[in-house]
Amino acid sequence: RTTAVVLAGGTGQRVGLSIPKQLIKIAGKAVIEHTLAIFEESPDIDDIIVLMTPGYVADVEKIVAKAGLTKVTQVIEGGSTRNETTERAIAAVGASLEDGEEDPNLLFHDAVRPLLSQRVISDCVAALERYRAVDVAIPSADTIIVTRTHGEDGEFITEVPDRSRLRRGQTPQAFKLSTIRRAYEIAAGDPNFQATDDCSVVLKYLPDVPIHVVPGDEYNMKVTQPVDVFIADKLFQLATTAVPQVADEAAYRERLAGKTLVIFGG
Ligand code: CTP
Repeated sequence: RTTAVVLAGGTGQRVGLSIPKQLIKIAGKAVIEHTLAIFEESPDIDDIIVLMTPGYVADVEKIVAKAGLTKVTQVIEGGSTRNETTERAIAAVGASLEDGEEDPNLLFHDAVRPLLSQRVISDCVAALERYRAVDVAIPSADTIIVTRTHGEDGEFITEVPDRSRLRRGQTPQAFKLSTIRRAYEIAAGDPNFQATDDCSVVLKYLPDVPIHVVPGDEYNMKVTQPVDVFIADKLFQLATTAVPQVADEAAYRERLAGKTLVIFGG
C-alpha cells in the first residue's frame, strides 16, 4: 500500500496570520483541502493520514467530512518540530499495519504545497519500486552562496557552490516505512539530532541507502512568506480558468505558459 502523510503540524509564523497557514483560504478552499484533494484523486494513493497543529484537528476533520475525502483514515496532532511530526506519522502508520502486510510506501508531503501535480506523485511511487528513499527537487535559478556571520559586520561569502549541481528540495519525500523508521530510530540516539526534512535523516543515519531524486515542478511551491499566498492564489486562478482538466498536464502547462505571457504582457 501507499500512504500519503500530510504534514500540517506547523503554525506558519512567517506568514504571520492568527490561524495556521494551511487553513487559509486560497481560491475558495483551505490550502490543506487543495492538498488533500490531490492525493484523494491519485490512483497511486491508497490512504491518507494528516498530522495537524494541536488545537486544529477538528477543523481538518470538518474539511474532510464536508469535501467527502474518503481516503483520509486518521487526523492526529503533529509534534513541536517537523521531524517530531514525521516521527508521529511513522508510529501511526506502524500501528495501523495488518499482520503479514508488506513494507508500505510512505509519501511525506507539506500540507502547504497545494499545487502538487499527479505526475510527481506517480514518479515517486514508481521510483519506490527500485529505491527505498526518494526526494523531489528542481534546479535553482538563483546562484546559491554560503555565508558566515562575523559579529556586527554581518555576513560574508565563504563559498559559491557550482549551481549546475544544486537543487531546491520540495516534497513529497518518499520512503519504504522500514527505512524511514530505522533512520529515525538511530537519530533518536543522537543528542545533536537536527534536521528540517526527512531525506537528510536517511542521508545522515543510513548513509548506504541511495536516495533517488525525481524532478519536481516549479508550480509545486511552498506557501512560506506572505507574498506566497498571493502567488498561490494567482496560480490557482490560472489553473482553474485556463484548464478545467488539470489531469492533462501537457495542456495545463501550455495554457499556463500562454496565460503568464498575457498577464505579464499587460
Ligand atoms: N510542519 C509540521 N509540524 C511542525 C512544523 C511544521 O508538520 N511542527 C509542517 C508545516 O505544517 C508545513 C511543512 O511542515 O506543512 C513545512 O514547514 P514550514 O513551511 O516551515 O511550516 P511552518 O512551521 O508552519 O512555518 P513557519 O516556520 O513560518 O512557522
